[in-house]
Amino acid sequence: MTNQVKTVAITGGASGLGKAMALRYARAGWGVAIADIHEERGAATLQELKDLCGDACYQQVDVRDASAVEAWRDTILERWGHIDVVINNAGIASHGGIAESSLEDWEFTIDINLMGVVRGCKLFSQVMKQQGHGHIVNIASMAGLIHSPEMNSYNATKAAVVALSETMLFELAPFGIGITVVCPGFFQTNLAESTRSPDSHAQAHVSKMLATSDITADDIADQVFTAVAGNQFMLLPHKTYRNTWYWKRFMPSLYNNKMGQYGAKLAAMRRQT
Ligand SMILES: NC(=O)c1ccc[n+]([C@@H]2O[C@H](COP(=O)([O-])OP(=O)(O)OC[C@H]3O[C@@H](n4cnc5c(N)ncnc54)[C@H](O)[C@@H]3O)[C@@H](O)[C@H]2O)c1
Repeated sequence: MTNQVKTVAITGGASGLGKAMALRYARAGWGVAIADIHEERGAATLQELKDLCGDACYQQVDVRDASAVEAWRDTILERWGHIDVVINNAGIASHGGIAESSLEDWEFTIDINLMGVVRGCKLFSQVMKQQGHGHIVNIASMAGLIHSPEMNSYNATKAAVVALSETMLFELAPFGIGITVVCPGFFQTNLAESTRSPDSHAQAHVSKMLATSDITADDIADQVFTAVAGNQFMLLPHKTYRNTWYWKRFMPSLYNNKMGQYGAKLAAMRRQT
């Protein structure tokens, strides 16, 4: 190790939850590396990080590109000599029925929301195995546990991230690597901007859903920080959605009834338009 500062690497760190987590770690005195495709927001976030902790870097990285993620990882290693925590956070929104969504939107969503996480886990776990320590955080979603209609590719990618995280939990623990999977419900960020959908109203719909939250990205960032420190595996930050998850597991007929009613309501709306 070149020095003993603790280090965190965050994908999608220029906005929303990624930025909130970057600032949270910076406030705690960690060295913070963020990667994002949004150059302008990346530069602005880097400035805020430098003002807070002075020990931060930003790299423009598309998580769809394995060699770019690998180069970013190596830059971090050159700078600090080790990586304590990686947070695979970059993601996009997608919305639409199975019959209507294009296969191109499916592939695009999978490439970022699932394969982006896979690339981060693969490349950073290689280093962490060599170090004999580290912690991987994957930002999934409540959509990975509760699968509402008309969110096909989003639900599928987030459920896959939960499955991957659980797989790694038991595979990597013997190498000193902890895993946390985060499953938030809706909260206010710029996520709606990225919405892939066959429906031209989808972005407005996603924006409306994000605005319903009673907790903020900063609240979730605090919870992530604490969960990693305590080596907690699953984090469900929203109380309301946590309750729905308990219904699904322990009162499945009630859950199926509610979800059935929601599906019927959506179908009736679609028939009218
Ligand atoms: N906001 C919510 O309600 C919500 C709920 C559950 C889960 N999430 C998840 O939280 C994570 C963060 O999203 P957010 O809500 O902060 O949205 P956001 O749009 O504010 O932030 C996402 C960031 O990821 C970046 N990004 C997108 N594609 C990328 C790529 N190919 N390579 C690198 N960076 C890329 C974007 O530029 C953006 O800065 C996502 O994985 C999202 O699915 C969000």
